[in-house]
Amino acid sequence: MAAAPSATAALADAPLRMQAVTVRFGAATALDQVSLTLQRGETVIILGAAGSGKTVLLKTALALIHPDEGRVLLFGEDTSRMKESALFELRSRMGILFQEGGLFDSLTIEENVAYPLRNQKSLRCPDADLRTRVEEALNFVELGHTLEKVPTELSGGMRRRVGIARAVVTRPELVLYDSPTAGLDPITANNIMTLIAKERDTRGTTTALATHRYQDGHLLANYRYNANTGRLEAAPNGGQDLRTRFLVMGDGRIVFEGTQDELEASTDGYVSKFAKRLTE
Ligand SMILES: Nc1ncnc2c1ncn2[C@@H]1O[C@H](COP(=O)(O)OP(=O)(O)OP(=O)(O)O)[C@@H](O)[C@H]1O
Ligand SMILES: [Mg+2]
Repeated sequence: MAAAPSATAALADAPLRMQAVTVRFGAATALDQVSLTLQRGETVIILGAAGSGKTVLLKTALALIHPDEGRVLLFGEDTSRMKESALFELRSRMGILFQEGGLFDSLTIEENVAYPLRNQKSLRCPDADLRTRVEEALNFVELGHTLEKVPTELSGGMRRRVGIARAVVTRPELVLYDSPTAGLDPITANNIMTLIAKERDTRGTTTALATHRYQDGHLLANYRYNANTGRLEAAPNGGQDLRTRFLVMGDGRIVFEGTQDELEASTDGYVSKFAKRLTE
């Protein structure tokens, strides 16, 4: 049966569509026939063991890795047919927090956060506005006082927050967060997750989050940021309006896709391991 016209239109400009994507490194298959659609305003939580393909999936989504098979469409455009310059433009509509942080140690915090604004000409951010935009992004993560510092002067949690500021400074429509809470204490991890919910809920950003921590997904699926109180609160309708889906990756394949309830009900030995509310 044909989809209704409105559904077709929504699909056509979905921020991300991956169609039967395979990525190989030599003889090893890192992504195996992965298909995934992220509609505007959706949140997707990507769980899975170390080495299961979460990072490769996010980098392929950003067209930093090109698929050996299949297609990646960003905002309805097929990235395999685009020149690097056009891709660069398209990437300005997306932000990413890299798992390794990806901050430049030789640049100040201000220069790090300004980097995407300076380098993406399509954003046309006048020099006079740069500082304001950078301060706004750093204030968003409550690090407005660190402009002149360099990354090595900050704690791991603070560097992660600078990474978030850099990911959102361009006001992107889609933000990908790769393991933002890995290696952090529970309090700092929760602060990071609150910032991610704040970005999503104040700007309506489409969000993809790779994590090992089930509670990160639980938080985004059930809580929303209240700008008036500056706190997270339980979302109405059991969180249905937050439109959160869970994926579990295993050996480069999506071995589960569904709601939190469906994940918790899974009887699969591998999948069900990711549905436990473990604390680190
Ligand atoms: N540049 C690369 N060259 C060769 N192999 C790679 C490369 N990048 C990733 N891989 C391989 O692809 C597979 C998936 O790696 P990936 O980094 O996506 O895992 P992950 O799910 O993000 O793991 P983690 O939870 O540890 O972050 C692994 O087997 C990894 O060794
Ligand atoms: Mg990873």
